[in-house]
Amino acid sequence: MTLTGPDRVLAAAPAQPTQALADLAPPAGLSPAQPSAELSAPADERAAWWREAVIYQVYIRSFADGNGDGIGDLLGIRTRLPYLRALGVDAVWITPFYPSPMADGGYDVADYCAVDPLFGTLGDFDALVAEAHAAGLRVIVDVVPNHTSDRHQWFTEALAAEPGDAARGRYIFRPGKGEHGELPPNDWESVFGGPAWTRIVERDGTAGEWYLHLFDPAQPDLNWHNPWVREQFEQVLEFWLDRGVDGFRVDVAHGMIKQHGLPDVGYSGQITMLGNAVLPYFDQDEVHQIHRSWRRILDTYPGERIAVAEAWAPSLERLAAYVRPDELHQAFNFHYLGTPWEAQPLRTVIDQSLGTARLVGAPSTWVLSNHDVQRHVTRYGGGETGQRRARAAALLMLALPGSAYVYQGEELGLEEVFDLPAELLQDPQRFRSADGSSGRDGCRVPLPWNGAVPPFNFTPLGIADGWLPAPAHWAARTVEAQWQDPDSMLGLYREALRLRREHPALGDGALEWSPSPAGTLVFTREPGFVCTVNTGSEPVALPAPGTPVLASGPFELGADAAGQASVVLPPDTAVWWVRSASD
Ligand code: NOJ
Ligand code: CA
Repeated sequence: MTLTGPDRVLAAAPAQPTQALADLAPPAGLSPAQPSAELSAPADERAAWWREAVIYQVYIRSFADGNGDGIGDLLGIRTRLPYLRALGVDAVWITPFYPSPMADGGYDVADYCAVDPLFGTLGDFDALVAEAHAAGLRVIVDVVPNHTSDRHQWFTEALAAEPGDAARGRYIFRPGKGEHGELPPNDWESVFGGPAWTRIVERDGTAGEWYLHLFDPAQPDLNWHNPWVREQFEQVLEFWLDRGVDGFRVDVAHGMIKQHGLPDVGYSGQITMLGNAVLPYFDQDEVHQIHRSWRRILDTYPGERIAVAEAWAPSLERLAAYVRPDELHQAFNFHYLGTPWEAQPLRTVIDQSLGTARLVGAPSTWVLSNHDVQRHVTRYGGGETGQRRARAAALLMLALPGSAYVYQGEELGLEEVFDLPAELLQDPQRFRSADGSSGRDGCRVPLPWNGAVPPFNFTPLGIADGWLPAPAHWAARTVEAQWQDPDSMLGLYREALRLRREHPALGDGALEWSPSPAGTLVFTREPGFVCTVNTGSEPVALPAPGTPVLASGPFELGADAAGQASVVLPPDTAVWWVRSASD
């Protein structure tokens, strides 16, 4: 007999909405004054929660707008906490909401201990932490230590000072080369394109020193050899820890220390976002001293406060150094994100990730998308193919041992948006890149919540447009359109997250591969859980390893010639199975 997969599976284990859709609407009359976050803690006090947490990335500008100006904010996040809770994630990481001229979407911070009025107030932040904790969600915030905004008071003071003054010593100023200092001090390039140096005009009006900026000129790099800088950031961490945050995502955690002498690289085309090149301005051994000192601070707070490194390291071995027991807790696995949808490379990167993390006793992490890369539905081919692969990739990722990051909107199957009006684009990478690429705005389009027309209730009552327009066809991809549909991408994520929380084999731990045909992955998580994946372009027959509990798409169960249960996995399909003692 042949059974059709999803119908059978979903009939056996229906996705139970844990919450009526009406509950997802912004609660009326949210009062901004809420209990202090300081003493509140998430309901779930599992030890080492972070070793298996599913952490949802909120790109604040594009998640939900609470005050109707078309830009996402803290109030918007508060109104959508019921959604995040019902989705089934463990924590939210919120991208920077600090005062900023927004030259790089808030990654140019002008004050590390305040909230930009665009996003709300410190009171809103405290209320958000308290409400998130009450809902069992942890809160991780970004810290941006490699560079400040050029409008930060420290940089203003540096510009006003004389060459050689202490205020200049907080940043990386150098005289230029050439007869009149007209050439940059070395050949380093900015991640966003062009030289990594900008020349300033001194107070007396003469052309002066150059300062280093590995990103935009509006993001001058700090001098982390200066103890004063280190002390300032220790205070920043304590400021947010005292307000109850559960951890930090550390921006450019590999970049704070530059090689002594600032030697030339010797070639051009040095870096790409999330790249792996060996460079004198990234992944220097001394950077680990900083992370050790930060870990000491985190460990003085109760409740396992964590830090996750955004570190671009040339190898998984180098990346593992950031998560040694006395350093940070997690590092993003960009090697996994960059792996194509092919069984063999995926197996290799999974093995290497688990192997190197194990060497230092850390959990591995998994990520498919974030606010810096093209959305993975699009990277995987777009359209039906991209959706099919993204569904299978979600089940693969959520079955792997360790912690996973979900970027807002991937649970809705959102694709990259390419046809944004040029006058609305904001990403500095786009403006500085020589290849005219569309930059990162296309993965940052405001989320579609409900309704039939843009901006799909991204703003309350839809009274303003979102800061970037959502495509009209996202009407079929809103939270509302997918919530009750177990076959939707959202239905798949909800059910996968529910099973992941319930099944003892999932989360932290290990996996064991089973032999399987080319183009497929089959692994077991004990006790009694199996994941099968076909990344190839042809259907593949496998022995059925148990009872199917969730599938990314239709599949067929049958029996082989010897009467053993078998499964035919179509292309780009993943199935989760549970095995009982009798299987
Ligand atoms: C990494 C962040 O994710 C990215 O958005 C930002 O542009 C750079 N760091 C610079 O802060
Ligand atoms: Ca707003």
